[in-house]
Amino acid sequence: MEQIRILGISGSLRTDSTNTIILNTCKTLLPANAALTIFQGLDRIPHFSPGLEDNEAVASFKSAISQADAIIFSTPEYAFGLPGTLKNALDWTVATGEFNDKPVAAISASPLNTGGENALASLLLTLTALGTLRNDHSAAAIPNIKGKIEHGYVADLQILKILQSVIDNLISQLEQRGVI
Ligand SMILES: Cc1cc2nc3c(=O)[nH]c(=O)nc-3n(C[C@H](O)[C@H](O)[C@H](O)COP(=O)(O)O)c2cc1C
Repeated sequence: MEQIRILGISGSLRTDSTNTIILNTCKTLLPANAALTIFQGLDRIPHFSPGLEDNEAVASFKSAISQADAIIFSTPEYAFGLPGTLKNALDWTVATGEFNDKPVAAISASPLNTGGENALASLLLTLTALGTLRNDHSAAAIPNIKGKIEHGYVADLQILKILQSVIDNLISQLEQRGVI
């Protein structure tokens, strides 16, 4: 059976990022015929301005998106919004359309009990503008993430259940589209 290629994009650049940990945990919840690679290099993407040429970092971001069958985002919220680094990277793809028709899932995680829901709402708006494919089960805001991680992975059963259902929904979207 052909391998499903999923790209993970973390909205956090921190080494110990809880959102990157969520993506690493997602790797363990995938079916055997799927693999998730986390994109590295969001911090090397220059400030977007229309008309600027893609540099190597932008080209590698666009190529990672194009080569993926689906994308999973996990992002923190900063000052009630999406981290600028992530929004900036997404802006580079507006004119070239790498996300167009791409099945996506979007997660936000926060130590607060709001779960980063403002950042998630903002991300979903941008993903709509980019022409991605999703449904009502493609997104989850995960509150109170602090203390629910052990040995570099999510250790909370309720959160694991949420992540599993987001992944199952993404895989079934791929099945419906005949990708697998
Ligand atoms: C400058 C700053 C602003 C923040 N603003 C918010 C916020 O508006 N909402 C929220 O839920 N968390 C906020 N946080 C807390 C982050 O959610 C928290 O640091 C989280 O762990 C970052 O995600 P990461 O672990 O993936 O790096 C903020 C943190 C920083 C440093």
